[in-house]
Amino acid sequence: MLRSIVRTPYVHSCLNLSHAPRKHVLVNPSAWRTLASSTKIPKLSDADLMRHYAFINNEWVLSHNAEAKFPVYDPATGEEIGQLPEMDIKDTQRAIQAASAAFPLWAQQTGKERHDLLKKWYDAVIAHKDDLATILTWENGKSYTEAKGEITYGASFFEWFAEEAVRAYGKVIPSPMTNQRYLTIKQPVGVVGIITPWNFPTAMITRKVGAALAAGCTVVIKPGAETPYSALALCELAKRVGIPEGVVNVVTTKKHVSDIGNELCTNPLVRKISFTGSTKVGKTLMSQASGTMKKVSLELGGNAPFIVFDDADVDAAVEGAIASKFRGTGQTCICANRIYVQKGIYPLFACRLAEKVGQFKVGHGFDPDTTHGPLIHSNAVEKVKKHLDDATSKGAEILVGGRHLGGNFFEPAVLSEMTSDMLIASEETFGPIAPLFRFSTEDEVLKLANDTPFGLAGYFFSRDIGRIWRVAEKLETGMVGVNTGAISNCYAPFGGVKESGLGREGSCYGLDDYMNIKYINMGGL
Ligand code: SIN
Repeated sequence: MLRSIVRTPYVHSCLNLSHAPRKHVLVNPSAWRTLASSTKIPKLSDADLMRHYAFINNEWVLSHNAEAKFPVYDPATGEEIGQLPEMDIKDTQRAIQAASAAFPLWAQQTGKERHDLLKKWYDAVIAHKDDLATILTWENGKSYTEAKGEITYGASFFEWFAEEAVRAYGKVIPSPMTNQRYLTIKQPVGVVGIITPWNFPTAMITRKVGAALAAGCTVVIKPGAETPYSALALCELAKRVGIPEGVVNVVTTKKHVSDIGNELCTNPLVRKISFTGSTKVGKTLMSQASGTMKKVSLELGGNAPFIVFDDADVDAAVEGAIASKFRGTGQTCICANRIYVQKGIYPLFACRLAEKVGQFKVGHGFDPDTTHGPLIHSNAVEKVKKHLDDATSKGAEILVGGRHLGGNFFEPAVLSEMTSDMLIASEETFGPIAPLFRFSTEDEVLKLANDTPFGLAGYFFSRDIGRIWRVAEKLETGMVGVNTGAISNCYAPFGGVKESGLGREGSCYGLDDYMNIKYINMGGL
C-alpha cells in the first residue's frame, strides 16, 4: 500500500506552510534487489587488506579443522563476500596461549614504546581509510560516506590511547605514619577477551584494543560473525607497523559464538572481558566471567529517549533526531528509540522530520546517492516490521516511509500518535523507525524517559538553561546529548548505567578499565 507524506492533516498544512514538499519517491519493492546487485564493489588499492584467515601470533591461520569455514555476505545483495575459518574452543585456546605468552614482554614495554606503535597503527589506518571503508561498507552495508566516518572515528581511539599510554599515573598518598610512605601504581590486567558487534566493525574494536594495548594488555578478539573482515584488515596493518606477535589475535566464527564466548570468560589466563552487544548476552558473559572473577566492561543495549521541549530550536531538533535516530540506518546502541515531543511543538516537529526523512535515499552503500544502507540481515528486518505493525495496529500513524523494500532494505519511517503500550516504548528497535510520542510537562516526560531498565544515552532539546541542568541531571543514562544528537567521540566517556552496562570506554577514564591499581606501602623509613 502506498503511504504518502500527506496522510496526516498537520503534515499537510505544515508542508503547505513551508517551501514546496519534495516528492516522496516510491520505488517498486521488487526492483531493490536488482538495483543493489548492479552496484559495483570498488577494487581495493591494497588487496592484502582483505584476508581470508584468522590471525593468531601474527600469522594468518585456519582452524585446527582446516575444512571448517563460514561465509560472510554483503547485506545489500545477499552475495557471498568470502569464507573464513570456522573456529572453535581449541582455536580460541591457541589464541589465548599466544596472547598470554606475549603479555609479559608487552607489559614491560614503556608507555612511550607502546605510544609509538599505537601512533603508527593510527597512521596506517588513516593512510588506508578508503580501502578500510570499502571493506566495512561491503560487509556491514552502511553508506561509504558513513563507513569513512567510522574509520576516522575508529582510528581516533588509537591516537587517543597512544597519548594516554604515557599518562597512566599512580599517586603518592599522604601518609599518617612518619616511617611509612604510601603510593599506587597502575598495571595492565593481563590478557583481555574482546567480543564486538557488527554495527561498528572497526570502531568497537579500536575503542577496546586501543585502550588495552596502551595499558599493556594483550588481546583475543572475537568480531561479529557478519563483519569479521574489518577486524582482519586492522590486524594486517598491526603486523605491518610492528605490533609484536601475540599482542593482537582474532578468532573467527559463526557457529561457535557462544562456545568461544564461554571459553574467553572462563579461561583463567584471560583476566578481563570487554563486550559490546545485547544486554541478554552481556548478562550471560558476566555470570560466566564471575567464576574466575574477571574484570568486565559491558556496553549493552539502550532504549534512548529523545525529548523535544516546546522551547527548542525546531530545525536543530530535527537535525539532532536524524543524526541520532538514523545513524547506521538506526542500528546503533545510542540511537533515539523513543522521541518525546511536547504538545506545542509536536505538529511542526513531526512535519519537518517527516519531510526530511522522505528525502532519504535507501540503497547499496556504494551507490554515491545512498544516504542509508540496508539492515544487516532478515532478522533485523523482521524486528522492524514487527515494531511497525504493532504500533500501527494500536493506533500509530505512518507519516512517511515504513515499507519493506525487498531484501534487507527498509524504508526509514516516522510514526506519530505513539503510546506507551506499543512495543517500541519498551524495546530497542535497532532500525530506521522514528516514533513520536506526545507529552505535556517536564515531570511527565522525565518519568516516561526513565521508565526503562536501560540507561545508555538520552537526548533533549531546549533553550531554557534551568531546564537544561534539571533534565540533564535527572535523566538516568550514562550519556546525555543536550541540543545535539551526535555524542560519540574519543575524548568523552562512552558507557551506560542500569542494564546498559558497566565501565567507560574512550576518554581519560578508558585506560583504567584495563588496569589494576596496586598499592605499595614503603615502611621502615
Ligand atoms: C554502539 O552502537 O554500540 C556504539 C555507538 C557509538 O560508538 O557511537
